[in-house]
Amino acid sequence: MKLTAEEQAMADGKYGPGTQLAMQVLIAIGEAYDAPYMVPVTRTHVALSNQEADLWFAEKLAKGGAHCRVRPTVNPSFNPEQLNAICPVEAADMEIVQRTHAAYNQLGAIMTYDCTPYLERNVPRYGEVISFSESSATPFVNSVYGARTNREAAQSALCSAVTGVTPYYGYLLDENRAGDILVHVEAEMKSDFDYQMLGYVAPSKTGFGVPVFDGLENPTKESLMNLGAQLNTGGNVALYHIIGFTPEAKVWGDPFQGKKPKKEVTITQADLDGMQKELTAPGGKIDFALFGCPHFTIDQVATIAQMVKGQQFAVPFFVMTSSLTRRLAQKMGYFDILRAAGGEIVEDTCMDQPCWKFLYGKKGITDSPKCTYYTKRRQMEFVIAPLEECVEAALKGVY
Ligand code: F3S
Repeated sequence: MKLTAEEQAMADGKYGPGTQLAMQVLIAIGEAYDAPYMVPVTRTHVALSNQEADLWFAEKLAKGGAHCRVRPTVNPSFNPEQLNAICPVEAADMEIVQRTHAAYNQLGAIMTYDCTPYLERNVPRYGEVISFSESSATPFVNSVYGARTNREAAQSALCSAVTGVTPYYGYLLDENRAGDILVHVEAEMKSDFDYQMLGYVAPSKTGFGVPVFDGLENPTKESLMNLGAQLNTGGNVALYHIIGFTPEAKVWGDPFQGKKPKKEVTITQADLDGMQKELTAPGGKIDFALFGCPHFTIDQVATIAQMVKGQQFAVPFFVMTSSLTRRLAQKMGYFDILRAAGGEIVEDTCMDQPCWKFLYGKKGITDSPKCTYYTKRRQMEFVIAPLEECVEAALKGVY
């Protein structure tokens, strides 16, 4: 790869072994993908996970003196003080959380602990070259805003944060952003939940490539969050277009860039209903309700508060949000309504963190297939249903 003098200096160790390693990783990725050179990034988001490999790499960079030139926002961890009140956190888990926090803090990350940074604290503009990991964030920034990122790993995004550059390949290039598969959506698409199912079903029909959806009208931001999250749970999709809606299918006018789609598929209501049946646990008695995968917006919290005002949940009820949304819910009275009903808004965390051990072996209800996918390895099972049906079930204790 052709490197600038500054990039070469980083690779040669002028800024210490941490920055050197970060640049070496990016050079290796660039060479693997035949990237001719690096390009600067102006934003980064790292899917910090509190898992051993993530911690090992972050500590290695930090011990090597690395510091982020483009400070990243980061994915959820957990807030021990808040969670200790719900369930005591084990010492080994606490140690990993504290060490991960210390390493990323030392690297200069912005400790947002949120998986929807694209809505609140790290919002790119059209055409901006960025480096984002997090499976629901990458398709949102690429598709909805028209920013440019590859589907980064936490480690490659962190290397870009440290060095300020990324190899020029993949979805950074105009020609790779063209649509491949035309997806005719004939399902009704009347709620945010329908987009969860559409996202999960679509990759099974499209395979690998850039899907172009036809038949989706003015989806909400929550629908788009859901679509991106599930496209990367049922499959592997960093970029999609929606005809007449997303910028590269509206401003440019032709998401296929003058080529014919390689394939056309149709998704019907029966496909969505069939996938819901396949993914959900059987109905009946439930033990808890858990939402916020991805983190709920203030509008989703408001929907719940309006439904449960003056009532009592029959089972433990949790909503995961960013700390900003939780604070907003406090200011707007939603927090008190949920608390009075026996529910809790939990900030900064994810159901894939080891802080939900008291729910292992139990059956919950949620609106998110991604939530059920990640918790299978933690012996949790979920009924999957639209948010309003989930809230009704949590009030009765049965679905
Ligand atoms: Fe967010 Fe964790 Fe779900 S990062 S999208 S809550 S798996």
